Amino acid sequence: MAVLVSEYTEAILMNIHKVCCLVVQTVLLVCMLPYKLISSIIFPNTPKAFSSVFITGAGGGIGAEMARQYASKDVHLTLADLHTEKLSEVKLQCEKLGAVVNTISVDVTDKDKMRKAVCAADDECPLDLVIANAGVNAPTLLNKSSKVLSDVSSIVTEVNVIGVCNTLSPAIERMRSRKSGQLVITASFFGLLGMMGDKLTFAYASSKIWACTYGMGLRTILQSENVGVTVVCPGAIKTELLADVKAKGINLDKTAVDCGPAVKQMIQGVGKNVGVVYVNIGILTRLVVGVFGYNLIPPFLWNEAPLVITALGSN
Ligand SMILES: NC(=O)c1ccc[n+]([C@@H]2O[C@H](COP(=O)([O-])OP(=O)(O)OC[C@H]3O[C@@H](n4cnc5c(N)ncnc54)[C@H](OP(=O)(O)O)[C@@H]3O)[C@@H](O)[C@H]2O)c1
Repeated sequence: MAVLVSEYTEAILMNIHKVCCLVVQTVLLVCMLPYKLISSIIFPNTPKAFSSVFITGAGGGIGAEMARQYASKDVHLTLADLHTEKLSEVKLQCEKLGAVVNTISVDVTDKDKMRKAVCAADDECPLDLVIANAGVNAPTLLNKSSKVLSDVSSIVTEVNVIGVCNTLSPAIERMRSRKSGQLVITASFFGLLGMMGDKLTFAYASSKIWACTYGMGLRTILQSENVGVTVVCPGAIKTELLADVKAKGINLDKTAVDCGPAVKQMIQGVGKNVGVVYVNIGILTRLVVGVFGYNLIPPFLWNEAPLVITALGSN
């Protein structure tokens, strides 16, 4: 009997603790909203313009559109992709807009080649923006080859995880020493969902969860060096990647948006060094997956955020 009573009391206390945590979390979140509003009025944040930009996966889709939207007079662009043929049309389009354009054929999983490519671009014109955008999903690889799912999962991980490190690491060294620069990782809506990848997209989803966490970690450690980091989290955008997904039976056409306006939104967020840029992810979805949190945390609390969250959220 005594044991039963003590277990019952413990259960009640635990529930009280949970409710208290929830209340404190809600109060904190509500307090941060006015902080965000007031600070944006006192310190209006006009988007930064960039003069030397390096983009991977620039031969098509989001990467190519980013190149076109960053292209203008006096802007240096270094466009990287697996195949230079895909890049030649983008290069012409960007040159017509006044940009100086170099193209390079490189696989982002090749660490040495990536280091050389990034350093050469930086030597020619110091990079102030590096975008790790190249990415693959299993359907693309399955459509292009006779490989099976177990083979392509490791390729997805290598391109979407190691490829991001290979792109950003050489740039981080240079930007740290200059104490300026901006890094971008194209993650995905999948990165916010946690453990929801289906049998076709689980490796992609895992890699994008990594991308979000890695980007936020980098942002925290590089803020004192004046190097910004933005993670871009798009929902469905009309590109080849989406067409490949559709060919494998997942039709996202209804929710997909055009690349042009989506990239415009990404570029605005990057220029303001926003932590996470959500594109084509509805308000309702954001509420459900609770993705408002990060951008509301003031920078002086970034380092403390995991501790606060752990303390409040345990049990
Ligand atoms: N479209 C969407 O709905 C969506 C949503 C969320 C996130 N994203 C992310 O956005 C990024 C761009 O995707 P996208 O939709 O623009 O797809 P995309 O049209 O397929 O473009 C991806 C580009 O990356 C290149 N690439 C692939 N593997 C590479 C490698 N190992 N090294 C260098 N380049 C490589 C591809 O080259 P090849 O074509 O020659 O293979 C292609 O040009 C990806 O990271 C993707 O995960 C897309």
